[in-house]
Amino acid sequence: MQFSNLLWEIDADNVLTITINRADKLNALNSATMQDISAAFDAAKSIDGLKGIILTGAGEKAFVAGADISEFQSLDVLQAKALAQRGHDTFFAIERMPIPVVAVVNGFALGGGCELSMACHLRIATPNAKFGQPEVNLGIIAGYGGTQRLIQYIGKTKALELHLTADMIDAQTALQLGLLNYVEADKNAALEKAKSIILKISTKGPIAVAKVIECTNAYFKEDVDGFAYEVNAFGDIFNTEDVKEGVAAFLEKRKPEFKRK
Ligand code: COA
Repeated sequence: MQFSNLLWEIDADNVLTITINRADKLNALNSATMQDISAAFDAAKSIDGLKGIILTGAGEKAFVAGADISEFQSLDVLQAKALAQRGHDTFFAIERMPIPVVAVVNGFALGGGCELSMACHLRIATPNAKFGQPEVNLGIIAGYGGTQRLIQYIGKTKALELHLTADMIDAQTALQLGLLNYVEADKNAALEKAKSIILKISTKGPIAVAKVIECTNAYFKEDVDGFAYEVNAFGDIFNTEDVKEGVAAFLEKRKPEFKRK
């Protein structure tokens, strides 16, 4: 696949790495890049056998330093709402992917960058990573889900502090607060860790993995009873061949061969 602002690479193990590729602008998310991200995840959904997706930023300095501020200059109210809505749609599509999406955060993850990392299922950072929601510095607020997702990960106390002060936190602090799964020594180690987690998940029942993601997302939907959602999801799984294979393999003391059926 070819994109103007993304690199797309599927390796021999069927793991896709998407790299946001505007290093000279610290990978800031302009409209073209947001369109690319949306198209890339859409395309990834229909790739048979894809085990997972790693999302990272080009260069050593930034994952993503935010939405592209230069595009804010001429926005009116309706255009600003449309921009935020498109961002929400794209980030929800990432959050709802049925295979694991892991952000490898190598440097600044600010504003839309922090929000993009939070739309991924897991986050692994390098020691130079810095997270923040600095929008109030510009007199604006987070518009790609940041006011909602940061609370989900780190709670209201620290989320409000970060949004209100625009302070950045380093990787170790983000790890302690629960925003990160791991901090690795450098970008290569972080990419390797992301891949090893994806490969581990790929040995599990793929329909079950998708259902775990769905049920977890259901917890955060106001109009959905997550417990009821789980009851249904649990039941639906019993209509699959994979559940028979998983249970039989356990009883026969062998490794399961799941077929995503
Ligand atoms: N939107 C557009 N361009 C951005 C950007 C953004 N969010 N973040 C960085 N850039 C651009 C800079 O304008 C600069 O471009 P130039 O070389 O053409 O002037 C280039 O990326 C490098 O950034 P620079 O500011 O020179 O790097 P730095 O190391 O001095 O500072 C940051 C790094 C991240 C602290 C700083 O770039 C910054 O504060 N960026 C904005 C962060 C932000 O507010 N994000 C939320 C946006 S809603």
